[in-house]
Amino acid sequence: MTRPPVRHLDPEAFEADPEPVLAELRATAPVCHVPELGLWLVTRWDDVAHIEAHPEDFTAATEPSWLRRALGPNMLTCDPPAHTRLREIFGPPLTAGGRAGTVVAEELPVLADDLIDTFVDEGAVELVDAYARPFSAAALSLVLGLDEPPERVWHWCEGLCADIANFTDDPERTRLGDAARDELGEVLARRLDELERRPDDSALSAYLAAGASRAEIIANVRLMISGGINEPADGIGLVVWTLLDRPELAAGLDEDHRRWRHLIEEVLRRHSPVGTVTRQTTRPVTLAGVDLPAGALVAGVLRSIDLDESHWHRPELVDPDRREGPHAAFALGAHRCIGEWLGRQEIRVACRRLFDRLGDRDLALDPTAGPVELHGFEFRGPRSLHLRWSP
Ligand code: HEM
Repeated sequence: MTRPPVRHLDPEAFEADPEPVLAELRATAPVCHVPELGLWLVTRWDDVAHIEAHPEDFTAATEPSWLRRALGPNMLTCDPPAHTRLREIFGPPLTAGGRAGTVVAEELPVLADDLIDTFVDEGAVELVDAYARPFSAAALSLVLGLDEPPERVWHWCEGLCADIANFTDDPERTRLGDAARDELGEVLARRLDELERRPDDSALSAYLAAGASRAEIIANVRLMISGGINEPADGIGLVVWTLLDRPELAAGLDEDHRRWRHLIEEVLRRHSPVGTVTRQTTRPVTLAGVDLPAGALVAGVLRSIDLDESHWHRPELVDPDRREGPHAAFALGAHRCIGEWLGRQEIRVACRRLFDRLGDRDLALDPTAGPVELHGFEFRGPRSLHLRWSP
């Protein structure tokens, strides 16, 4: 029997810039064990597609589970049929026909304008903190009916994300995650009491009406707050950065809804804000010729497969005219993002309002702020984005 491939990496360097390591793994060890992460990394498109298509061999109910520890049992820590029931309850309010549809059409453009009003006369802004994050936090709060200030919601998102991606068991990240989980749990319990007395058109109210238990609502809303805020915020930052870094991509965007859509999809493919789908083998499985034991924790690396040279032509290039089929930024299988419609609309509304209002005022990256740095393996986006325009 051949020895399974093992690769060592420096977690800090990997967190800062995973792409070179992932490219090397795709070329030389597409299924390999990484002791520093306690995971097998799977980096080629076909192999991750196989994992996603075979939940009977690759379960989402992993043991241990960073996600369950950080949030409580939720839809992303179980398989069908329990998973199917939760999707049916939690999905509809997040779509065009549910509460999200009304929020996107009526409330998000106003939210975007209100935020832009706070800095439009300054002629300069750090966009991530002043716009992308509060917009994303407020948007999900509006859909859920959470009624909490965006900065508080963002703070919960940060704490939960720190612990979800805590592959190295850093106690400080666990502490941040625990604090966010408990505080959000208490706030949600109070809000659900109110909504039981006075139901409304919010997603939380719909979840109660659909028969979800308190514990199910609290854990799954924690999941939404962790993945459903960070990611659209990263998406907004990535799209704005791409457009300002390559101004030729902005040509013809003004009135062209389809072109915006293609551009956003391409940016999501190029940078895949969510790094992995993590599963566990239920039995010994051979993947790409590598024998995985039962119980192996396997991370299908979405960011890698969206850059897989055997699947994409010149994958590193953002090309809105690309027509090579769907990308994997929202995943491929049963756990494919339940908020993908909402996430895409948030990115579209936030970016379009920003360019509609500032695009003809010499909007540009601030050259004095240094190059834009992307950061993160599990969650990836610009840490900060300094912009300037004519006030
Ligand atoms: C650009 C924005 C977004 C990206 C890139 C993204 C990405 C993803 C990915 C890759 C997954 C699969 C994870 C896995 O299988 O392990 C996922 C699942 C999920 N996402 Fe998103 N997401 C985004 C926005 C949102 C929003 C706005 C929500 C709001 C509710 C949300 C809620 C969820 C939930 C609850 C799941 C778990 C689904 C399940 O287990 O069936 N996401 N997302």
